[in-house]
Order: sequence, then structure tokens, then C-alpha cells
Amino acid sequence: MGIETGDDAAVYRLTDDLCIIQTVDFFPPIVDDPYQFGAISAANSLSDVYAMGGKPILALNLVCFPEDQPISILGDILRGGADITKKAGVLTVGGHTIQDKEPKYGLTVTGVIAPDKIISNAGARPFDKLILTKPIGTGIITTAAKAGVANSAHLENAVESMMTLNLGASTAMTSVGVDAATDVTGFGLIGHLHNMMKGSSTTAVLNLSAIPILPGARDLVESGVAPGGTRRNLDTVGRQVEWDDPIKVTDQLLLCDAQTSGGLLIAVGPDKADLLMNALAAQSVYGSIIGEVAEAQPTAIQVTA
Ligand code: CO
Ligand code: CO
Repeated sequence: MGIETGDDAAVYRLTDDLCIIQTVDFFPPIVDDPYQFGAISAANSLSDVYAMGGKPILALNLVCFPEDQPISILGDILRGGADITKKAGVLTVGGHTIQDKEPKYGLTVTGVIAPDKIISNAGARPFDKLILTKPIGTGIITTAAKAGVANSAHLENAVESMMTLNLGASTAMTSVGVDAATDVTGFGLIGHLHNMMKGSSTTAVLNLSAIPILPGARDLVESGVAPGGTRRNLDTVGRQVEWDDPIKVTDQLLLCDAQTSGGLLIAVGPDKADLLMNALAAQSVYGSIIGEVAEAQPTAIQVTA
């Protein structure tokens, strides 16, 4: 599987019963604390392997760092990343650092999976339930924090969510067997769902009130805070969504919010939805049924108030 399917990672079959999964992600700091930034970026990099149902095994650090900054900051970033890869049972076997004006950090990740266990983003079927495993709003809250207008408890909550691995969510979904999955990152819930519906030739019907939102995010977006990426998501894919009349533009922005290290978005057969919710709870993972899949219609996503 390569770039043509728009899936989360590349998959290459080595033998009849073994594939490798390969992915890479890195970006500049989204929070001030270097340790937290390292942990968030590592969790985000590993997420694409979990979204495919795979097991990450090896990672390499990708680092850009300014020469005029204290080296202890870089140490903190790498320590944050190492704590997360350790939690994931992944070996970090090297990496590469270059000088740059702005720090950047992330991982290349190699995972493994059996060919018949690959969970693509293109397998959703009509009547499937759509389940989301983390609340949304990290883009809005971290943007507010940069502007100094985020409540510290709300920021802490968002950071905790972004530092959480999608390992538990992935373990739950592979134990139950699901039709499709992806992780919610830069294109937001709406963008990644749109990819899943296009790839699956289906339509999604979302229930706005069932979508979990991080505390503080709705107030912030109503006060005018939204990252550029979130506004771009609304201007592009958000325009192709059929929004119920009473849904405000601020709620549309919220659903388009660009996420970092977001949760898994899973399409599961209606007969297995309860089983998956129980499996998620057993992994201490927050899961919400946010809508369902229908036969393909002219709009790939409809959102009801
Ligand atoms: Co992804
Ligand atoms: Co990615």
C-alpha cells in the first residue's frame, strides 16, 4: 500500500505472513514545555502504525535544533520522546540531527503486521458505527496557549490527551475486528473522515452532540481562537459537508480543528460496536459513538445538530 490509497502509512509485504509498516512525522513545538513536546511528537509519530492495526517495533529520531539554544532543551525533548517509545515497547535505534533556526522533532517508525490483519481507511461499510477514541480541540487549545489565553487546566488536559498513545485503542480494535480506521491529525475529524468515506465509497452521518470536545475548546473557538490549519480545513473539505441548519460556524470550525496526536476514528460493524466499546473501556480508553456510515450520497459527510 502506497500513497495512492491515502492511508496512514506505507505497507510492504516481506513474506506471505509478514508486512512492514513505515511512517514518518515531525514538526515544530506546539507546547512550550520541551519534555511534553517530545512526548507528544513521539506519540503522534507512532499513531499511524496503530491506526493500521500494526505493532511498532523500531524508531529513529529526527531532530532540528538551533545552535544558540541550551542543549539541555534538546535533552528534555529527547527524554520525552524516549519515555513514550519505551511505553510503546519500541526501540529507538538512532537518528539524525541538523541545525535549524526553529527546533523540530519527530520519529520515523517501522512496524509489523500480518497481511490479513491490515486495517485500511477504505473498508467502511453502510450501517457501520463510527467510534472516536479521543476528544477533539487540541489545535484550538494549543493556539490559545501560544496567545496566552488558555486556561492552564484546559491546556494540561489537552497535553495529557496528546501524550497518550493510541496503543490501547489499537489493541481494542484489533481484538474485536473492525472495518476501517485512521488517526485524527492535521486534517481534523472532518478531513480524515472525508478521506475514509471517499476511500470506502460511503457517506458518514455524524451527530454533533455525540462528538467529544476537550473542555475549553468550544468557548475559545466562540471567542475567535482557531489555528490557520483549522480555518483552511473548513475552507476546503468543510465546504463539502452538509451541515444541519442550526449548526454554527464555530461548531463547524471545531469539527475541522487540526489535531496533533488525535485519537483513532474507527468504523465497526453494528453488531460489534458494543463489543468494541467494552474492549476500549477495558484498555481505559475513552470511546464515543459519534455517528454511522450510510450508502454513498452526493455529500460524503452529513452532520446533524
Ligand atoms: Co494518520
Ligand atoms: Co502522519
